[in-house]
This record gives sequence, C-alpha cells and structure tokens, in this order.
Amino acid sequence: MMKIVIGSDHGGFHLKETIRRELAEEGYEVKDVGTHSLDSCDYPLIAQDATAAILAGEAELGILICGTGIGIGIAANKVPGIRAALCHDVFSAKASRAHNNANILTMGERVIGPGLALEIVHAFLEGQFEGGRHERRVNEITALEQGGATHE
Ligand code: RB5
Repeated sequence: MMKIVIGSDHGGFHLKETIRRELAEEGYEVKDVGTHSLDSCDYPLIAQDATAAILAGEAELGILICGTGIGIGIAANKVPGIRAALCHDVFSAKASRAHNNANILTMGERVIGPGLALEIVHAFLEGQFEGGRHERRVNEITALEQGGATHE
C-alpha cells in the first residue's frame, strides 16, 4: 500500500486528524509529522518535515493542511523536487496528478468541509501522471529550480 506523509499546523489540525484516521483505516501507511495539538505552531516547519520525508523516499505523496492551504503550500514549494498543489475541488486534484505530477496536496481547513476534502484526497492519491507533453513541462519546472530552462 502507498506510503503517505501528512502534516498540518494548528489551523489544519482537525482536518489532518480526520484524513489521517480515514487513510489508516483504508490501509495506507501514514507518517504524521504533526502538529499534534491545537497549540499555535509554524506551518513552514511542518512543510519542511513533510517534504524531507518525500525526498528521503519515506513517502510517495504528501498531504498538508493549514487554515487556507496557502502558507503551507508556498513553504513546501520552496523545496526543490516538491510540487505542491492547492486543491479545493476534485477536478483540480485529478489534474494536479495527471498534468503536474504534484507530489503534495494542500488544503485549507477553514475553506472546505471534511466530506469534500476526503473526496479530493482520494482523487489525488488515485491519480496518475499522464507524462507525454506534461513531462516536458514538469521537467521545465525542475529546470527553474536550477536557474531556468531555455526556449526552443
Ligand atoms: C494560522 O493562523 C494561519 O495563518 C495558517 O494556518 C495558514 O492559513 C497560513 O497560510
């Protein structure tokens, strides 16, 4: 079964717990990098730990939650090799895997309810990268991490 890393700040704690429990029940291997309470904490540090788990091969995909999904996604996207997608609808979640080969899904607990969030999570985890023309574009994103790609 696929290995997943999950994390949130205090603003995403309840939704993170809901998703963690659901995925564990479904048989996913879930690594939880916190937070573990409603005490205020800093989302960049959670993003740092989750992205490290992906880059170390401890997890294939990640799910990060904060109040909006924005801050934790901005932080995750600073890490080379990470493609974090903020998705609050199922179509975007599928496309983020199929077209962008996203390796992290971010969502905002203050934006959506748990029912839709779980549908989005499943669309993301079950999605498949289509490759082809999308692979060239993802490679160009990777090139941006190293100074940029050249126009043909
Ligand atoms: C925390 O109050 C909040 O700023 C954070 O969860 C997130 O929404 C930031 O983007």
